[in-house]
Amino acid sequence: MYASFRSIGAYIPEDIRTNQWFIDRMDTSDEWIVKRTGINQRRIAAPNQMTSDLGVEAAKIAIQRAGIALSDIDLVVCATISPDYMCMPSTACLIADKLGLNEPMSFDISAACTGFVYALSVAKAFVESGMKKNVLIVGAEKLSSIVDYTDRTTCMLFGDGAGAAIISATENKDEAIIDVRCSADGGQKDLLLTPGVESGEKQYMQMKGNETFKVAVRTLTSDVVKILENNNMTNDDIDLFIPHQANYRIIKAVGDALEFKDEQKVLTVDKYGNTSSASIPMAINDCYESGRLKAGDTMLLDAFGGGLTWGSALLKFAPKK
Ligand code: UT7
Repeated sequence: MYASFRSIGAYIPEDIRTNQWFIDRMDTSDEWIVKRTGINQRRIAAPNQMTSDLGVEAAKIAIQRAGIALSDIDLVVCATISPDYMCMPSTACLIADKLGLNEPMSFDISAACTGFVYALSVAKAFVESGMKKNVLIVGAEKLSSIVDYTDRTTCMLFGDGAGAAIISATENKDEAIIDVRCSADGGQKDLLLTPGVESGEKQYMQMKGNETFKVAVRTLTSDVVKILENNNMTNDDIDLFIPHQANYRIIKAVGDALEFKDEQKVLTVDKYGNTSSASIPMAINDCYESGRLKAGDTMLLDAFGGGLTWGSALLKFAPKK
């Protein structure tokens, strides 16, 4: 049995927060933000929208596009670092309940911006083992609730949103997720973290931006080299290179080092900012809705985030015929 990537969906919150919002509140400029990050705007969830609500909207679209019944979903995995509740109940449990699913196994993954690739890896393993047949994976973030809006070095980077996909069993090898690599190094935890409740600090994200930038470029590049080598593939086999959307300069440096052509590279950071675990599925959804992603295309995902965690994935887009 193989695992196939059947469908994609996303929820993009309505409220647009431009760079001017930050200029009005702190010592920064449009020129600095655009030049250093490539970000022009990000989306912000409404005060009454929780992370699970964003995830539910993305999931509804993915489920509808996969053409499966709600009762067919036997596992829900949600990647998030901005859950509705502290540890329990998991956001996946809330999403399953709000969708009216038939009490499937549901749990969250905490792997920061690599979360969606981790979720993909888990879904692939459950499906290939025969334990589950239709897995809903979600990357959902309300990062605006954990951003420190007095820290000008981080606050303009992040936005809210959600993406979701259905991973289903197939006997057709041509439709299979080819490979997923996931890694972690807790020794570098101090680069990117959210303090715990006993720290005495607010539960806001903290990042050593410049150091993180350098490790991100190195790691995102080397991981792609490894996954391509391991699968005897080259850049020419890739239709869409979809990296985590943290910073335009990171994507450019990695894309250039790997010699991807512009038509292969996917860029959404300018309009959504960094949405952590939601960034890759939101980018896939953008490609799908614009007609850039077509049935049978090979995608290469490349993610990096707090933990540190990183991961890459090679997969076919295999919508149900
Ligand atoms: O999603 C997980 C992974 N995340 C990432 O990989 C993000 C990695 N980091 C980054 O994207 C970049 O490091 C940042 C965008 C956060 C910062 O860019 P940078 O080029 O690394 O800038 P920097 O931190 O070295 O700061 C350069 C200067 C400093 O001033 P001095 O010391 O040179 O006088 C900062 O104080 O820019 C200053 N600065 C700002 N100036 C205007 C920092 N934030 C701002 C700001 N507006 N918002």
